[in-house]
Amino acid sequence: MERYQQVIEQLKQQPQVWLVTGAAGFIGSNLVEALLKADQQVVGLDNFATGHQRNLDEVKALVGEKRWQKFRFIEGDIRNKETCASAVKGVDRVLHQAALGSVPRSLNDPVTSNEVNISGFLNMLCAAKDEGVKAFVYAASSSTYGDHPALPKVEENIGKPLSPYAVTKYVNELYADVFDRAYQFKSTGLRYFNVFGRRQDPDGAYAAVIPKWTAAMNHGEEVFINGDGETSRDFCYIDNVVQMNLLAAMTTLDKSEVFNVALGDRTTLNQLFQAIKEALAEQGVSYDKQPVYRDFRPGDVRHSQADISKGQSLLGYDPQFRIFEGISLTMPWYVLNV
Ligand SMILES: NC(=O)c1ccc[n+]([C@@H]2O[C@H](COP(=O)([O-])OP(=O)(O)OC[C@H]3O[C@@H](n4cnc5c(N)ncnc54)[C@H](O)[C@@H]3O)[C@@H](O)[C@H]2O)c1
Repeated sequence: MERYQQVIEQLKQQPQVWLVTGAAGFIGSNLVEALLKADQQVVGLDNFATGHQRNLDEVKALVGEKRWQKFRFIEGDIRNKETCASAVKGVDRVLHQAALGSVPRSLNDPVTSNEVNISGFLNMLCAAKDEGVKAFVYAASSSTYGDHPALPKVEENIGKPLSPYAVTKYVNELYADVFDRAYQFKSTGLRYFNVFGRRQDPDGAYAAVIPKWTAAMNHGEEVFINGDGETSRDFCYIDNVVQMNLLAAMTTLDKSEVFNVALGDRTTLNQLFQAIKEALAEQGVSYDKQPVYRDFRPGDVRHSQADISKGQSLLGYDPQFRIFEGISLTMPWYVLNV
């Protein structure tokens, strides 16, 4: 946390110009909020494929009119090279979040996931290199560990991808690495592990587990668990992810690197169900149904847990929010908004 506080102080003293792609999405809108609160100038790029204007409206309300003046939004698609080039003009640091998330989405439509997550990524990487930005940080994914059995997951040991989505995120890392070797263009990949928090979309077939279950419980509907509920994940609260993005963007490391972004904890789906139920009860929402167990989902790994020591030692990553605290902090937003 000490390093993070230093970074925030440094940014306040020497404000930077940032580009956040995927700015209308869950993680992107939280990054925009944190940057504006630190008095930075921010450009946001999004085509609203899965993001929402309401997320930007909420950020505007949270940061206030004066800070909002420092935000410029571009509605555009990262599949368009010219859009990427114009978004990055005059930008110091890029936080590239835009992509089509979700393993099942990529299984249903691998071509579109490939176009957005690989071609779109490459467009952004080229645009950032050509502009000579000071930092390029991108959303990688824990799905890159694929079928590698070891736990906890250590950055250098990955397996074979288990979904088209995982392929796209791994290809991002390969391109980032090659851009360093071929053009000396440095970047940092952040392998997010199951991020959750306010503004994560609860709607649609591809919603993530925490928002989906929370919305269902809030409405008294059934909660479905894929498999026996003993599948586990390293759930990571959004504020830890914001911290890691800013640390990575301000690092003085002179090498491209990839880091796990998680807590190093493992929570089963059965434990998660209980935790959400209890956190909702604290908000006055009681849920008395039992979860409904159904088949395992194709492409899902059984267990996931990160080793976060690389980020701790090289970037000063110090996650402040453990899963149950994060869930408690998240519930008031869901109770109000879904
Ligand atoms: N949420 C997680 O647990 C998690 C885990 C691993 C990796 N990631 C990665 O983190 C990033 C952000 O994910 P999120 O959870 O905020 O998802 P999200 O869907 O809320 O945000 C993604 C944003 O990208 C935008 N976008 C999609 N295609 C675009 C395009 N062609 N041009 C411009 N914008 C486009 C969407 O409209 C959306 O606002 C993604 O790259 C995702 O793959 C997320």
